[in-house]
Amino acid sequence: MRTQVAIIGGGPAGLILAQQLHVAGIDSVVLERRSRAYVEERIRAGVLEQGTVSLLQRIGAAERLNAEGLPHHGVSLACDGETFRIDLQAVAGKPLTVYGQTELTRDLNAILATRDQPVFEAEDVALHDIATDEPYVTYRKDGQEVRLDCDFIAGCDGAHGVSHKMIPQDLRKTFERIYPFGWLGLLADVPPCSHELIYSNHPRGFALASMRSTQRSRYYVQVSLDEKLEDWPDDRIWDELAIRLGPKAAAGMTRGPSLEKSIAPLRSYVAEPMRHGRLFLAGDAAHIVPPTGAKGLNLAASDAYYLCEAIVGFYRNGSQTGLDGYSAQALSRVWKAVRFSWWFTQLMHRFPGDDGFAHRVQVAELDYLSRSRAAQTAMAENYVGLPY
Ligand code: APR
Ligand code: PHB
Repeated sequence: MRTQVAIIGGGPAGLILAQQLHVAGIDSVVLERRSRAYVEERIRAGVLEQGTVSLLQRIGAAERLNAEGLPHHGVSLACDGETFRIDLQAVAGKPLTVYGQTELTRDLNAILATRDQPVFEAEDVALHDIATDEPYVTYRKDGQEVRLDCDFIAGCDGAHGVSHKMIPQDLRKTFERIYPFGWLGLLADVPPCSHELIYSNHPRGFALASMRSTQRSRYYVQVSLDEKLEDWPDDRIWDELAIRLGPKAAAGMTRGPSLEKSIAPLRSYVAEPMRHGRLFLAGDAAHIVPPTGAKGLNLAASDAYYLCEAIVGFYRNGSQTGLDGYSAQALSRVWKAVRFSWWFTQLMHRFPGDDGFAHRVQVAELDYLSRSRAAQTAMAENYVGLPY
């Protein structure tokens, strides 16, 4: 088999890239290890930047997003019983859109299915000759070995994929911060307690009230890394949310059985460069951000955007310039989101072992943020998403 771009991984990065390339008249094959049912059931993020929404609109993947996405014009931050709202629309000129990554994945899969893509349950995907002009990928599908020749390989296979491992160790530099806590998430089919998101810094730890729709809520509480899911029956999570989010949110909260519960550790991670020869990494394959600020999915989209532009430049003008600049261009935006999600994580969580200094700095910063339009602008510009 032959294609122009072999895309490894059918998460948001791979699916958005495939659709963008298609719109530009470039052929690709998406190889996804899991089944369609598995990827479409996976519960993931749910807040889209305007840049992500516009990109999805341009590539014809926003029909349901336009109809069902919930525009959010503001966000609330709470600390020790005090809450203030940042008017995102007023200070940054853009809203955010609440729309589940799960829904986005379904929409893109439905579009790609009309071209018999992605190839699901592609096993043992392996990359070959990436440092030459004739790279290829091998995999197994229904017991058959397949060889896929291509011009480029896009490694969109997330943090646990095979692509990032192909960049030689001595050419790679990695950067990491591990945070001493995780997020316990709960999804339930109940109306949200607030029509906007609430991020709360509470003596018992961080909590977040979010949503997927007007009838589906998504909540998180900060937990220590040794917590076990078995020790968190639904009632305990609801009780904890009611305390940490405060009386007003608690009064508006509807409890219901969890559809999904999970604990995820928080970390920041970047591997540089995002390119080796004909292999280009995009999304979680190259970087991880803590969920505070919801940047992961949006970075997958911006990487896909830059990569597509570079590939289009190559086919249209025979120019290598975009390809050569891809890693630096993508990383410049990635590091700003790494910076923002690290800052927002530090601001909103309780750090074990703090002697009170870190928390007083948080209180001072939140007080400043609540009063200073300049500070709110800096926060909101990053939160709604920096321009591409
Ligand atoms: N071969 C083929 N596919 C693979 C392989 C492999 N060896 N390894 C992983 N995959 C697939 C995974 O099953 C997954 O569907 O690659 C896909 C990677 O998707 P994501 O993990 O969603 O990563 P990405 O597309 O970069 O999107 C990042 O998704 O995980 C969230 O929080 C993250 O919001 C962020 C966004
Ligand atoms: C979510 O709804 O899953 C979500 C929202 C905002 C975040 C992180 C996660 O900062």
